[in-house]
Amino acid sequence: MGSLDGRVAIVTGAGRGIGRSTALLLAREGASVVVNDLGGAVDGSGRDIGPASQVTAEIAEAGGKAVANGADVSDHAAAEELIKTAIADFGRLDVLVNVAGILRDRMIFNMSEQEWDDVIRVHMRGTFNTSKFAAAHWRSLREENAHNRIINFTSVSGLHGAPGQPNYAAAKMGIVGLTYSCANSLAKYGVTVNAISPGAATRMTDSVPLERRRSGRPDVDEWSPDNVATVVAYLASERSSWLTGRIVHASGYELALYSNPEPEIRLVGREPWDLDGLAEQVERSFRPRAGRSA
Ligand SMILES: NC(=O)c1ccc[n+]([C@@H]2O[C@H](COP(=O)([O-])OP(=O)(O)OC[C@H]3O[C@@H](n4cnc5c(N)ncnc54)[C@H](O)[C@@H]3O)[C@@H](O)[C@H]2O)c1
Repeated sequence: MGSLDGRVAIVTGAGRGIGRSTALLLAREGASVVVNDLGGAVDGSGRDIGPASQVTAEIAEAGGKAVANGADVSDHAAAEELIKTAIADFGRLDVLVNVAGILRDRMIFNMSEQEWDDVIRVHMRGTFNTSKFAAAHWRSLREENAHNRIINFTSVSGLHGAPGQPNYAAAKMGIVGLTYSCANSLAKYGVTVNAISPGAATRMTDSVPLERRRSGRPDVDEWSPDNVATVVAYLASERSSWLTGRIVHASGYELALYSNPEPEIRLVGREPWDLDGLAEQVERSFRPRAGRSA
């Protein structure tokens, strides 16, 4: 028996990398999977249904259920059709995993409008599009005891501010805000919404030297995207109902739960601040001193 028997999942960007590993594992655990992938290059150019079809064939060969879908998730109407495909082909939808993504790295002072827009469009609008139509579907059902899931993908690039990825960092932090908002709005419909910050060797990280084998074991592939897929499978299961509105870092064999932002120091005045008074208070309370971090 699999932990996802009878469940239906959509995985976007499932033709390669982390999405592919996720689709294969969810299917092995018993889920029926819509394998979505536009099949473009890392920068988003081009289109090919091949990768999605290949993953679908692998799932079928292993005895699982899957259907390929080549929609561009950043296309609002195509995203609606994607959600409808799960319901038409498998009768329901339980899990939406928003993995699809592209890169157009450039320093802020050299970045073109197009590079900015393309990355924001695929990551942010793409995640919004699929989430919107999945949420509308779940809301229309008003199912008792529902265990619906939205699992988004953010990045340390945004969380830590990668200097050469202003568009990607902004998009990935936009997805964090979307995750918090949807977690709050959809709880009453039995939907949990979380974001994973992954680390895995894929074509997207080809140019980034990943720290080698922190585990020190030569017999295991620490940076396989399969390791991220295990975390997605847990979040996709009914067991994870207690967890929503959080960021989980899953990189190699490391797992971490991020704290959600909250005020660190609060200053409350009784009247409008005058500039000198504000400067004095802020520097006394907020400014890092030796032994205290920013
Ligand atoms: N690999 C890492 O270490 C890492 C780190 C941080 C975040 N991420 C995030 O994890 C996710 C997966 O990345 P990956 O490393 O597996 O990359 P990948 O390039 O191997 O896979 C991304 C997939 O998304 C598909 N895709 C792109 N645009 C699409 C669109 N508009 N519609 C549908 N599919 C589309 C691509 O064709 C590709 O198959 C991405 O959101 C990425 O930003 C990855």
